[in-house]
Amino acid sequence: MMKMFIDRLLLLALMLVVLALVATSVATLWGTALSGSTLMLHMTAGGALVVGMPLVAVWFLRRGVSRQMASAMLRCGYWLTVLAATVTIVTVFLCMLPLPSTEQMNDLMELHGYAGFAMVPAVALFLLAAVRSRRMKSTRSATPG
Ligand code: HEM
Repeated sequence: MMKMFIDRLLLLALMLVVLALVATSVATLWGTALSGSTLMLHMTAGGALVVGMPLVAVWFLRRGVSRQMASAMLRCGYWLTVLAATVTIVTVFLCMLPLPSTEQMNDLMELHGYAGFAMVPAVALFLLAAVRSRRMKSTRSATPG
C-alpha cells in the first residue's frame, strides 16, 4: 500500500517537473531565448530533475519495471525516460566544464533541447504503462480463479 503511494507520488512529481521544464522552454521553439525569471524557473525545475530522476530511476528499478514480467510498454517507457533525462542533464553539465568551445556549447544546448522535449513522449509512455499495469493487476486480483 505504502509502496503504491510512493509510486504515485514519484510519477506525479516527475510529470509536474517535466511540465514545468517544457512550459519554461517551449518559447525557444519559435526563437525566443530563455532569460530572466523563465530561465530561473527552468533551472530550478532542472535542479529538481537532477535530484529527483536518480531517485525515480532507482525506486522503479527496485520495483521491478525492468524485469521480464513487467510489460514491454512499461520497460520501454522507463528506459526511454531514463535515457532522455540522462542526455538532458549531461549536456548541461558538459557546458559547465571548461572544455567545449562556444560552438560545441551551442550544439550541446541544441541536443539538450531535443532530449528534453523527447522526455514528454517518454514520460507519457511510462505513466500510461504504469497506470495500465496497475489496472491489470487490480483486475487480476479481483477476478476469482
Ligand atoms: C524536460 C526537460 C527539459 C526541457 C524540455 C528543456 C528544454 C530546454 C531548451 C529547449 C533550452 C534552450 C536550448 C537552446 O538554446 O537551444 C534549454 C536551455 C537550458 N536548460 Fe533545459 N530543458 C530541460 C531540462 C533541463 C535540466 C534538467 C536542466 C538542468 C540540469 C536544464 C538547464 C538548462 C539550461 C542551463 C539552459 C541554458 C539556458 C540558456 O541558454 O541561457 N534544462 N532547455
